[in-house]
Amino acid sequence: MKYQAVYETVTPETYIHLRVSSGLSSKTMEAAVTGLKNSVCCVVIIDTENNNQPVGMGRIIGDGACHCQVVDICVLPDHQKKGLGKLIMQKLKDFIDEHLPVSCYISLIADGEAFKLYEIYDFKEVWPKSRGMAFLKAF
Ligand SMILES: CC(C)(COP(=O)(O)OP(=O)(O)OC[C@H]1O[C@@H](n2cnc3c(N)ncnc32)[C@H](O)[C@@H]1OP(=O)(O)O)[C@@H](O)C(=O)NCCC(=O)NCCS
Repeated sequence: MKYQAVYETVTPETYIHLRVSSGLSSKTMEAAVTGLKNSVCCVVIIDTENNNQPVGMGRIIGDGACHCQVVDICVLPDHQKKGLGKLIMQKLKDFIDEHLPVSCYISLIADGEAFKLYEIYDFKEVWPKSRGMAFLKAF
């Protein structure tokens, strides 16, 4: 198979590259260094036919028991629509099933149409019981 999903923390440089090249916002190098160290779980997709280049990733962050969040789900444009988003989510779901307590609240914010991907893995809209909110220090 051309692609492989592995549990591995990406380098800060790769993290920023994957985010920005996929259309997500950038992060400072300092933020990436600190943030990646605090990951609960990190999955990277490597292209085994191209020097194991990372082409996608996803992370779970949080306290690892009571509250966690799925973040940084992205796939480089040239590799999208080939099932890699699903491969990332399946690997994160496997981690959730194996390592997080059943009482863990695992949330995410879905951009654009990405909710269709998360629905496949049983994430449900919380509205109207709850309302997702965010505080953005800078736009
Ligand atoms: C979201 C993203 C990771 C999906 O990656 P992908 O490799 O193209 O996804 P897949 O090929 O595994 O397919 C995703 C599934 O979700 C559905 N889907 C439909 N529109 C979609 C969309 N715009 N985005 C994601 N999934 C979509 C697809 O139908 C597909 O299911 P199907 O094969 O059963 O039809 C990718 O589009 C991406 O990196 N987008 C930019 C970054 C981003 O917005 N990330 C999400 C932040 S919340």
